[in-house]
Amino acid sequence: METSRAWWRHAVVYQIYVRSFADGNGDGTGDIDGMRRRLPYLERLGIDAVWVNPWYRSPLLDGGYDVADYREINEQFGTTSEAEAFIAEAKAHGIRVLVDLVPNHSSWDHPWFRAALAAAPGSEERARYHFLEGRGDAGEVPPNDWQSVFGGPAWTRVPDGQWYLHTYDESQPDLNWDHPAVADEFDAVMRFWLDRGAAGFRIDVAHGLVKAPGYPDAGPVQELAGMPPGQHPFIDRDGIHPIVRRWRRLLDEYDDRMMVAEAWVDASRRPLYLRPDEYHQAFDFDLLTANWDAGEFASIIAESVSSAQAVGSDPTWVLSNHDVVRHATRYGLPNGIEPGLWLLDGDRSLLDEARGARRARAAALVTLALPGSAYVYQGDELGLPEAWDLPLDALQDPIWHDSGHTVKGRDGCRVPIPWEPTGESLGFGDGGAWLPQPRAYARLAAAVQENAPDSSLDIYRRALAIRRERLVDELGFELLDAGADVLAFRRGDRFVCMTNMGDLPVSLPAGEVFFASGPFDDGELPPDTTVWMA
Ligand code: NOJ
Repeated sequence: METSRAWWRHAVVYQIYVRSFADGNGDGTGDIDGMRRRLPYLERLGIDAVWVNPWYRSPLLDGGYDVADYREINEQFGTTSEAEAFIAEAKAHGIRVLVDLVPNHSSWDHPWFRAALAAAPGSEERARYHFLEGRGDAGEVPPNDWQSVFGGPAWTRVPDGQWYLHTYDESQPDLNWDHPAVADEFDAVMRFWLDRGAAGFRIDVAHGLVKAPGYPDAGPVQELAGMPPGQHPFIDRDGIHPIVRRWRRLLDEYDDRMMVAEAWVDASRRPLYLRPDEYHQAFDFDLLTANWDAGEFASIIAESVSSAQAVGSDPTWVLSNHDVVRHATRYGLPNGIEPGLWLLDGDRSLLDEARGARRARAAALVTLALPGSAYVYQGDELGLPEAWDLPLDALQDPIWHDSGHTVKGRDGCRVPIPWEPTGESLGFGDGGAWLPQPRAYARLAAAVQENAPDSSLDIYRRALAIRRERLVDELGFELLDAGADVLAFRRGDRFVCMTNMGDLPVSLPAGEVFFASGPFDDGELPPDTTVWMA
């Protein structure tokens, strides 16, 4: 663990999707007890911190991003005192714990929303959310044309005729950040977790929170990209930043806490979130949608590095998370195929799983060599592919329903982790698993890879150890020109990272290759391979 106050600057943070990480009590759902038991594994992996997806009391209609109580742990996951003990025990293993904070919306089971439903239009209780009258003669038309991010109208009507706003599922009513009680409550929630030892927060929907005054129509193009910067009625509005500065002042009262923004905004606007009195980090999501293409990777990386550094911050790399198709599968598909759409009924013969696995390792060695911080999603280190063939009747993600069954959703990246090659849930727990695990997961189980040289797990462990030794200094960063198919960059005088993203082997420059993502012959870099050279 880095001891400096700014420990996050070069940190490797491991993302735990609680429900699917490890099941301590055998009920088929992951829990805090399971997480606690796997701390030695995480310590051995060599990470600095974990980010724990929402673990609060919740009906789990959006996997816990529908919070019914921000201070209580979901009873399937454990108790608040177990969470506190986990934070302390992780610390003893040299691991900090980031908690996921969900300020844009609550669950419809939150006491505030229940009180709002029970209260009259115009009441104080309703003012903490966005309740409006409808349009049309009888108010039967939603107040405006906003569409939910998951699909369908962003408004649901309640029995007395008013409508409430939910920019996600209808079970996730948006909170009204113009109401002072909302900001005060989140201050108190932040203090609650910081006082229990949390190292900080991953802030959900950091680009949300603020809505345009008067709730104007969005117009025919609802996407952020279709509007001038700052003009979308509920995404990336300038009014977000005073809220962020308030949170930052609160965090700064503590010694070394941080917050990372989940801000899906245009890359040109990301630095606004990273100003010195705002977020410590904001995820660089552009690699999540990038093709396997050296030029594309290079320009994303160059932009992220320079725009973060321009505001005195560092980039924050992500290859997978609980919202996107796992990169071992993305990279097994041809460029230009939209993986999220392919999942439902795409041509299966397009998928080359072996190529995806090679590229996933190669990409990991890129992000782990770049300046800044890297986030690893649980199972990335095992090279897990997406569970792309989940049966439709197993799906739980609200996107499947809200999209009118046109988008399969995110369950395929949330399948429980295989710890052992055998057993009903491959060592996830003593019972079953809340989502079926693909058969291919058995050979990728952690126990299988544990002592296998050059397994994905072995490569991650060694890469993290080397990174810690050689790469966490202020080394600088320079992209190198090594041909159209090669991504290459230098960190300081004694470190070069090279990835062959083309189809043919390329010659390696003079120098010692001291680490590689896959086999290679002397002097040549095969396709889909990264080397670290001195
Ligand atoms: C982003 C989270 O990562 C995602 O899982 C969730 O569905 C939405 N925010 C809504 O909270």
